[in-house]
Amino acid sequence: MQTLAAIQENSLEKYIQEIRSIWGDGKDPQLPFKVQALMKKHLLSANPDEPWLADLIRSGEPSKELYRDPDKGFIQMGHVHPQGRANSPHDHGPCWVVYGSYRGLTEITLYQRTDGGKGPGKATVEAKDRHRLSPGVAYPYLPGDIHSTNALEGPAVVFRFLSYDLEKVERYRYNLSEGTATRV
Ligand SMILES: [Fe+2]
Repeated sequence: MQTLAAIQENSLEKYIQEIRSIWGDGKDPQLPFKVQALMKKHLLSANPDEPWLADLIRSGEPSKELYRDPDKGFIQMGHVHPQGRANSPHDHGPCWVVYGSYRGLTEITLYQRTDGGKGPGKATVEAKDRHRLSPGVAYPYLPGDIHSTNALEGPAVVFRFLSYDLEKVERYRYNLSEGTATRV
């Protein structure tokens, strides 16, 4: 019989197994929302004393790969962001992402393009929505969604599920003041 401690130690593994079990061919349009539901459950149940999570929190690492699936290509990242840490608007190209908060408060701003997406290198965007991620809250962002993150209360411990390796896709970062889009 498994002890409670052993189950707690494996909560990341359990969450990953749950994602693997629903993944199928990875093309279900509902998949980002299904992963959102699994991540919310995981955020609420993960014990901070579990070694993998205690290590992440203690390390304060801004970006750490927690798991990479060898067959399906998805990646689970963990982040610890000091208060005030923000990034500029960006997209994930053809990939989708789920951001979830374990600790602290992270704001995610969503943008829409106001130039119709024309003109290489040029892009004007404006904020259209804001999500506040308190502990246990997760949101999916779909292919092409332009977003930025800001740690309002820190240190913020954030989980980021990537549908695929972002190093391998075409995607862009947007400069609000200059009205440009630059390939990441
Ligand atoms: Fe992102």
